[in-house]
Amino acid sequence: MKPIMSIAIEPIDAIGRPSFAAEVSGIDLTGRLTDVEVNAIHAGMDQFGVLVFHDQHLGDEEQVAFSRQLGPLEQATGDIHAPEDRRVSMDLNDISNLDKYGEVLARDDRRRLFGLGNMLWHSDSSFKDVPAKYSLLSARNIPTAGGNTEFADMRAAYDALDDAMKREMQDLICLHSQLYSRGLLGFDEFTAAERKKMAPVRQRLVRRHPKTGRLSLYLASHAGAIEGIPMPEARALLRDLTEHATQRQFVYAHVWRQWDLVMWDNRVTMHRACRYNPLEVRDMRRSTLTNEVSSLQQVP
Ligand code: OGA
Ligand code: MN
Repeated sequence: MKPIMSIAIEPIDAIGRPSFAAEVSGIDLTGRLTDVEVNAIHAGMDQFGVLVFHDQHLGDEEQVAFSRQLGPLEQATGDIHAPEDRRVSMDLNDISNLDKYGEVLARDDRRRLFGLGNMLWHSDSSFKDVPAKYSLLSARNIPTAGGNTEFADMRAAYDALDDAMKREMQDLICLHSQLYSRGLLGFDEFTAAERKKMAPVRQRLVRRHPKTGRLSLYLASHAGAIEGIPMPEARALLRDLTEHATQRQFVYAHVWRQWDLVMWDNRVTMHRACRYNPLEVRDMRRSTLTNEVSSLQQVP
Protein backbone atom coordinates (compact mmCIF):
# COMPACT_ATOMS: atom_id res chain seq x y z
CA MET A 1 0.00 0.00 0.00
CA LYS A 2 1.19 3.46 -0.82
CA PRO A 3 1.16 5.79 2.18
CA ILE A 4 -1.53 8.43 1.89
CA MET A 5 0.04 11.68 0.83
CA SER A 6 -1.33 14.92 -0.33
CA ILE A 7 0.33 16.78 -3.11
CA ALA A 8 1.26 20.44 -2.60
CA ILE A 9 2.79 22.84 -5.12
CA GLU A 10 4.48 26.05 -3.92
CA PRO A 11 6.45 28.63 -5.92
CA ILE A 12 10.19 28.44 -5.21
CA ASP A 13 10.48 32.24 -5.09
CA ALA A 14 7.02 33.46 -4.11
CA ILE A 15 8.06 37.11 -4.17
CA GLY A 16 10.45 37.36 -7.11
CA ARG A 17 8.84 34.80 -9.44
CA PRO A 18 5.39 33.84 -8.13
CA SER A 19 4.27 32.21 -11.39
CA PHE A 20 7.46 30.50 -12.57
CA ALA A 21 9.12 27.38 -11.09
CA ALA A 22 7.53 25.57 -8.15
CA GLU A 23 8.42 22.80 -5.75
CA VAL A 24 6.12 19.81 -5.43
CA SER A 25 5.84 17.88 -2.18
CA GLY A 26 3.71 15.03 -0.89
CA ILE A 27 4.10 12.75 -3.90
CA ASP A 28 6.06 9.57 -4.64
CA LEU A 29 6.82 9.24 -8.34
CA THR A 30 8.06 5.66 -8.10
CA GLY A 31 4.57 4.18 -7.81
CA ARG A 32 1.42 4.49 -9.85
CA LEU A 33 -0.03 7.99 -9.64
CA THR A 34 -3.66 8.67 -8.81
CA ASP A 35 -5.79 10.70 -11.22
CA VAL A 36 -5.77 13.49 -8.65
CA GLU A 37 -1.97 13.53 -8.71
CA VAL A 38 -1.78 13.44 -12.53
CA ASN A 39 -4.25 16.33 -12.78
CA ALA A 40 -2.38 18.32 -10.14
CA ILE A 41 0.91 17.89 -12.03
CA HIS A 42 -0.63 19.09 -15.30
CA ALA A 43 -2.24 22.05 -13.53
CA GLY A 44 1.08 22.86 -11.84
CA MET A 45 2.89 22.72 -15.17
CA ASP A 46 0.33 25.01 -16.79
CA GLN A 47 0.78 27.52 -14.01
CA PHE A 48 4.52 27.36 -13.28
CA GLY A 49 6.25 25.90 -16.37
CA VAL A 50 8.90 24.19 -14.20
CA LEU A 51 8.27 21.75 -11.33
CA VAL A 52 10.91 20.41 -8.94
CA PHE A 53 10.42 17.12 -7.06
CA HIS A 54 13.02 16.15 -4.44
CA ASP A 55 14.02 12.67 -3.23
CA GLN A 56 12.54 10.63 -6.08
CA HIS A 57 14.61 7.44 -6.26
CA LEU A 58 13.68 6.50 -9.79
CA GLY A 59 15.13 3.66 -11.84
CA ASP A 60 14.87 3.79 -15.63
CA GLU A 61 11.73 1.68 -15.85
CA GLU A 62 10.02 3.61 -13.09
CA GLN A 63 10.88 6.90 -14.77
CA VAL A 64 9.43 5.73 -18.07
CA ALA A 65 6.30 4.32 -16.41
CA PHE A 66 5.69 7.51 -14.44
CA SER A 67 6.32 9.72 -17.50
CA ARG A 68 3.84 7.71 -19.60
CA GLN A 69 1.14 8.48 -17.06
CA LEU A 70 1.41 12.12 -18.15
CA GLY A 71 1.26 11.50 -21.92
CA PRO A 72 2.90 9.79 -24.90
CA LEU A 73 6.72 9.83 -25.01
CA GLU A 74 8.99 10.80 -27.86
CA GLN A 75 11.95 8.63 -28.78
CA ALA A 76 15.52 9.68 -28.03
CA THR A 77 16.66 10.26 -31.60
CA GLY A 78 18.40 13.56 -30.89
CA ASP A 79 21.92 12.32 -30.10
CA ILE A 80 24.75 10.89 -32.20
CA HIS A 81 25.31 7.67 -30.26
CA ALA A 82 25.60 4.46 -32.30
CA PRO A 83 22.85 2.03 -31.18
CA GLU A 84 25.46 -0.35 -29.69
CA ASP A 85 26.89 2.49 -27.56
CA ARG A 86 23.62 3.42 -25.86
CA ARG A 87 23.36 3.11 -22.07
CA VAL A 88 19.59 3.49 -21.89
CA SER A 89 16.52 2.53 -23.92
CA MET A 90 15.17 4.76 -26.69
CA ASP A 91 12.51 5.99 -24.22
CA LEU A 92 15.25 7.88 -22.35
CA ASN A 93 17.80 10.49 -23.33
CA ASP A 94 21.20 9.83 -21.81
CA ILE A 95 22.15 13.22 -20.34
CA SER A 96 25.41 12.01 -18.84
CA ASN A 97 29.11 12.28 -19.51
CA LEU A 98 29.54 8.49 -19.36
CA ASP A 99 30.15 5.70 -21.85
CA LYS A 100 28.37 2.34 -21.75
CA TYR A 101 30.98 1.00 -19.30
CA GLY A 102 30.23 3.84 -16.88
CA GLU A 103 33.53 5.61 -17.59
CA VAL A 104 33.68 9.39 -17.94
CA LEU A 105 33.98 10.33 -21.62
CA ALA A 106 37.33 11.74 -22.73
CA ARG A 107 37.38 15.52 -22.96
CA ASP A 108 37.57 15.38 -26.76
CA ASP A 109 35.06 12.54 -27.23
CA ARG A 110 32.71 13.44 -30.07
CA ARG A 111 29.61 12.38 -28.09
CA ARG A 112 30.62 14.67 -25.22
CA LEU A 113 31.28 17.60 -27.53
CA PHE A 114 27.94 17.13 -29.27
CA GLY A 115 26.25 16.97 -25.87
CA LEU A 116 27.76 20.34 -24.92
CA GLY A 117 25.07 21.81 -27.18
CA ASN A 118 22.92 21.57 -24.02
CA MET A 119 24.93 24.49 -22.63
CA LEU A 120 23.26 26.81 -25.13
CA TRP A 121 19.77 28.09 -24.34
CA HIS A 122 17.28 25.77 -26.01
CA SER A 123 13.91 24.08 -25.98
CA ASP A 124 14.05 20.29 -26.32
CA SER A 125 13.50 18.75 -29.74
CA SER A 126 12.61 22.05 -31.42
CA PHE A 127 14.65 20.53 -34.27
CA LYS A 128 11.92 17.88 -34.74
CA ASP A 129 8.77 18.58 -36.77
CA VAL A 130 6.77 17.52 -33.74
CA PRO A 131 8.78 18.93 -30.85
CA ALA A 132 8.76 18.13 -27.13
CA LYS A 133 6.03 18.98 -24.63
CA TYR A 134 7.38 18.17 -21.16
CA SER A 135 10.91 17.03 -20.33
CA LEU A 136 11.53 15.08 -17.11
CA LEU A 137 15.13 15.04 -15.94
CA SER A 138 16.18 12.69 -13.14
CA ALA A 139 19.48 13.29 -11.33
CA ARG A 140 21.10 9.93 -10.61
CA ASN A 141 24.59 11.26 -9.85
CA ILE A 142 25.75 14.84 -9.68
CA PRO A 143 29.17 16.49 -9.54
CA THR A 144 30.40 18.06 -6.29
CA ALA A 145 30.07 21.57 -7.74
CA GLY A 146 28.55 23.32 -10.75
CA GLY A 147 26.29 21.66 -13.30
CA ASN A 148 23.19 23.73 -12.50
CA THR A 149 20.37 23.85 -15.00
CA GLU A 150 18.89 27.27 -15.77
CA PHE A 151 15.34 27.89 -17.01
CA ALA A 152 13.93 30.99 -18.70
CA ASP A 153 10.22 31.91 -18.66
CA MET A 154 9.31 32.54 -22.28
CA ARG A 155 5.77 33.67 -21.42
CA ALA A 156 7.12 36.47 -19.26
CA ALA A 157 9.70 37.27 -21.96
CA TYR A 158 6.94 37.55 -24.56
CA ASP A 159 4.73 39.67 -22.30
CA ALA A 160 7.63 42.09 -21.76
CA LEU A 161 7.98 42.90 -25.48
CA ASP A 162 6.41 46.18 -26.56
CA ASP A 163 3.31 46.08 -28.76
CA ALA A 164 5.13 46.96 -31.99
CA MET A 165 7.59 44.14 -31.41
CA LYS A 166 4.78 41.69 -30.57
CA ARG A 167 3.08 42.56 -33.86
CA GLU A 168 6.30 42.15 -35.81
CA MET A 169 7.11 38.77 -34.27
CA GLN A 170 3.58 37.39 -34.37
CA ASP A 171 3.70 35.32 -37.57
CA LEU A 172 7.40 34.70 -38.09
CA ILE A 173 8.52 31.15 -38.85
CA CYS A 174 12.00 30.01 -37.78
CA LEU A 175 14.05 27.13 -39.09
CA HIS A 176 15.49 24.86 -36.39
CA SER A 177 18.29 22.30 -36.72
CA GLN A 178 20.97 20.82 -34.50
CA LEU A 179 23.38 21.87 -37.25
CA TYR A 180 22.71 25.49 -36.25
CA SER A 181 23.18 24.99 -32.49
CA ARG A 182 26.34 22.90 -32.92
CA GLY A 183 27.62 25.39 -35.49
CA LEU A 184 27.48 28.10 -32.80
CA LEU A 185 29.99 26.02 -30.79
CA GLY A 186 32.25 25.40 -33.78
CA PHE A 187 31.22 21.77 -33.97
CA ASP A 188 30.61 21.13 -37.64
CA GLU A 189 32.05 17.74 -38.51
CA PHE A 190 29.02 15.73 -39.49
CA THR A 191 28.59 12.79 -41.82
CA ALA A 192 26.29 13.09 -44.82
CA ALA A 193 23.79 10.84 -43.01
CA GLU A 194 23.84 13.06 -39.90
CA ARG A 195 23.33 16.19 -42.00
CA LYS A 196 20.38 14.58 -43.71
CA LYS A 197 18.82 13.61 -40.38
CA MET A 198 19.36 17.18 -39.12
CA ALA A 199 17.54 18.92 -41.99
CA PRO A 200 15.90 22.12 -40.65
CA VAL A 201 12.24 22.11 -39.57
CA ARG A 202 9.77 25.00 -39.35
CA GLN A 203 8.48 26.34 -36.03
CA ARG A 204 6.47 29.42 -35.10
CA LEU A 205 8.39 32.12 -33.21
CA VAL A 206 5.29 32.95 -31.16
CA ARG A 207 3.06 30.11 -30.07
CA ARG A 208 -0.06 29.78 -28.00
CA HIS A 209 -0.36 27.38 -25.08
CA PRO A 210 -3.44 25.28 -25.88
CA LYS A 211 -4.71 25.19 -22.28
CA THR A 212 -3.80 28.55 -20.74
CA GLY A 213 -4.06 30.53 -23.98
CA ARG A 214 -0.87 32.41 -23.05
CA LEU A 215 1.60 33.34 -25.76
CA SER A 216 5.31 32.63 -25.50
CA LEU A 217 8.44 33.19 -27.53
CA TYR A 218 9.53 29.88 -28.99
CA LEU A 219 13.26 30.29 -29.30
CA ALA A 220 16.22 27.92 -29.11
CA SER A 221 19.83 27.88 -30.19
CA HIS A 222 18.61 25.38 -32.78
CA ALA A 223 16.86 28.31 -34.54
CA GLY A 224 19.24 29.54 -37.23
CA ALA A 225 17.08 31.26 -39.84
CA ILE A 226 13.77 33.07 -40.21
CA GLU A 227 11.66 32.74 -43.32
CA GLY A 228 11.51 35.97 -45.36
CA ILE A 229 14.33 37.72 -43.46
CA PRO A 230 17.90 37.93 -44.81
CA MET A 231 20.24 35.67 -42.85
CA PRO A 232 22.40 38.22 -40.96
CA GLU A 233 19.31 40.20 -39.99
CA ALA A 234 17.55 37.01 -38.84
CA ARG A 235 20.52 35.88 -36.78
CA ALA A 236 20.86 39.31 -35.17
CA LEU A 237 17.15 39.27 -34.29
CA LEU A 238 17.36 35.76 -32.81
CA ARG A 239 20.32 36.88 -30.69
CA ASP A 240 18.52 40.00 -29.48
CA LEU A 241 15.43 38.02 -28.55
CA THR A 242 17.49 35.38 -26.74
CA GLU A 243 19.33 38.06 -24.79
CA HIS A 244 16.02 39.67 -23.90
CA ALA A 245 14.41 36.38 -22.84
CA THR A 246 17.28 35.23 -20.65
CA GLN A 247 17.66 38.34 -18.50
CA ARG A 248 18.00 37.32 -14.88
CA GLN A 249 14.48 38.37 -13.90
CA PHE A 250 13.11 35.66 -16.21
CA VAL A 251 15.51 32.91 -15.06
CA TYR A 252 15.32 30.23 -12.37
CA ALA A 253 18.65 28.43 -11.72
CA HIS A 254 18.19 24.92 -10.38
CA VAL A 255 20.94 23.67 -8.05
CA TRP A 256 20.69 19.90 -8.23
CA ARG A 257 20.48 17.42 -5.39
CA GLN A 258 20.85 13.73 -6.11
CA TRP A 259 17.40 12.16 -6.84
CA ASP A 260 15.78 15.43 -7.88
CA LEU A 261 13.38 15.15 -10.74
CA VAL A 262 12.79 18.41 -12.61
CA MET A 263 10.02 18.70 -15.15
CA TRP A 264 9.64 21.59 -17.60
CA ASP A 265 7.26 22.59 -20.35
CA ASN A 266 9.29 23.14 -23.52
CA ARG A 267 6.46 25.17 -25.04
CA VAL A 268 6.94 27.97 -22.52
CA THR A 269 10.57 27.71 -21.36
CA MET A 270 14.15 27.55 -22.55
CA HIS A 271 16.89 25.90 -20.51
CA ARG A 272 20.61 25.32 -20.50
CA ALA A 273 23.19 23.22 -18.64
CA CYS A 274 25.98 24.99 -16.76
CA ARG A 275 29.67 24.08 -16.55
CA TYR A 276 31.12 21.50 -14.19
CA ASN A 277 34.41 19.64 -13.83
CA PRO A 278 34.58 17.31 -16.86
CA LEU A 279 36.48 14.69 -14.82
CA GLU A 280 33.57 14.26 -12.40
CA VAL A 281 30.52 12.07 -13.05
CA ARG A 282 27.23 13.71 -13.94
CA ASP A 283 24.53 11.19 -14.72
CA MET A 284 21.01 12.33 -15.59
CA ARG A 285 18.25 10.62 -17.57
CA ARG A 286 15.57 12.48 -19.46
CA SER A 287 12.20 11.19 -20.52
CA THR A 288 10.32 13.47 -22.90
CA LEU A 289 6.64 13.85 -23.72
CA THR A 290 5.87 14.58 -27.33
CA ASN A 291 3.85 17.67 -28.17
CA GLU A 292 1.91 15.50 -30.66
CA VAL A 293 1.44 18.49 -33.01
CA SER A 294 3.79 21.02 -34.57
CA SER A 295 4.12 24.52 -33.10
CA LEU A 296 2.75 25.63 -36.49
CA GLN A 297 -0.64 24.53 -35.18
CA GLN A 298 -0.39 26.63 -32.00
CA VAL A 299 -1.23 29.93 -33.59
CA PRO A 300 -1.50 33.18 -31.55
C1 OGA B 1 18.21 18.22 -21.21
C2 OGA B 1 19.16 19.31 -20.92
C3 OGA B 1 20.45 20.29 -19.14
C4 OGA B 1 21.36 19.79 -18.09
O1 OGA B 1 18.21 17.22 -20.48
O2 OGA B 1 17.43 18.37 -22.15
O3 OGA B 1 19.29 20.22 -21.68
O4 OGA B 1 21.66 20.59 -17.17
N1 OGA B 1 19.79 19.21 -19.75
O5 OGA B 1 21.81 18.65 -18.18
MN1 MN C 1 17.62 20.12 -23.16
